[in-house]
Amino acid sequence: MALKFQHPLTFQSSKSPSSFAVSRSRLPRSSHRVSMASTIGITSKEIPNGKKPFMPPREVHVQKTHSLSPQKIEMFKSLENWAEENILVLLKPVEKCWQPQDYLPDPASEGFDEQVKELRERTKELPDDYFVVLVGDMITEEALPTYQTMLNTLDGVRDETGASLSPWAIWNRAWTAEENRHGDLLNKYLYLSGRVDMRQIEKTIQYLIGSGMDPQTENNPYLGFIYTSFQERATFISHGNTARLAKDHGDLKLAQVCGIIAADEKRHETAYTKIVEKLFEIDPDGTVLSLADMMRKKVSMPAHLMYDGVDDNLFDNYASVAQRIGVYTARDYADILEFLVQRWNVEKLTGLSGEGRKAQDFLCGLAPRIRKLEERAQARAKQTSLAPFSWIFGKELTV
Ligand SMILES: [Fe+2]
Ligand SMILES: [Fe+2]
Repeated sequence: MALKFQHPLTFQSSKSPSSFAVSRSRLPRSSHRVSMASTIGITSKEIPNGKKPFMPPREVHVQKTHSLSPQKIEMFKSLENWAEENILVLLKPVEKCWQPQDYLPDPASEGFDEQVKELRERTKELPDDYFVVLVGDMITEEALPTYQTMLNTLDGVRDETGASLSPWAIWNRAWTAEENRHGDLLNKYLYLSGRVDMRQIEKTIQYLIGSGMDPQTENNPYLGFIYTSFQERATFISHGNTARLAKDHGDLKLAQVCGIIAADEKRHETAYTKIVEKLFEIDPDGTVLSLADMMRKKVSMPAHLMYDGVDDNLFDNYASVAQRIGVYTARDYADILEFLVQRWNVEKLTGLSGEGRKAQDFLCGLAPRIRKLEERAQARAKQTSLAPFSWIFGKELTV
């Protein structure tokens, strides 16, 4: 077995469905309401007409909900003007945005066949490792309905109607609309390359959206915006790296594709980190405690419930290849944390409670500790094995 991000602070292991459910169970804390997510799915429920109800292949048992106090929910409402002036300005008008079609062969043009041929020639030079990682990144983008749902679980900032004019809701919808181009573009590019098994990829997307995600953000916008700050930076880094590798392998168009997506992620990171910066300004104690809480729980990757109907370790195997080719590594996790701790001036916070100071100390020492653990894990993880990936027609890769 290869280094599979067993690193305790990076990814959550997916394992087999049954052990998964147990390993992800979380015990409720007394002060918060706890709800049970669907617990069936592994043992199919028998119903009288003999039909089996649909159950997602991945499930999450206990989730803490609504951990933000009513006073703080009100505080988010009072921040609406601020959000309008500081966050909505970071969205790009649709007319100024790139669209997937700008970077794809034009099916209405005479030269379409030739453009597709060129694309296929270019992508011939890319190795299977690269394709597996790009497919995993694309599938992560394609599970966008889950992320919009997640944003709309957050108390005080959710879109209450589906077309609400609260600045938080406007952001949620327009952010989703911008993100929607990422999966579209990568999906079409990969489709045209002819290098990947589109049907297996489409199945993986359907499974993943059906399973959802478990970001452990508790309907709490403090945790939610910390999570999205982290994730936007993580995707900025990984798309930046797939751009660099595409360039190294000679596909400059694909490098451009990954690069423009990375630029969107960076702008989104700027917005989310600005929201959390504001929270630090008005509620340093509450925010530092939330950041420490999120980091203690570990930031799970949005596609961690990934499944293709074949491989129970699909996410781990994909993450392992991403680590090996340097697209997203355990070191990146520590770097992102360090970046955010500096970005929010955590070290310089003053006037904190005793608990707040403890959280501050924990956070300031965390990145070096993660790196040390990671080095030890790497030294231990010498063995490698091969795993087949259905996305590339069952070809085996080192994981
Ligand atoms: Fe994205
Ligand atoms: Fe993003």
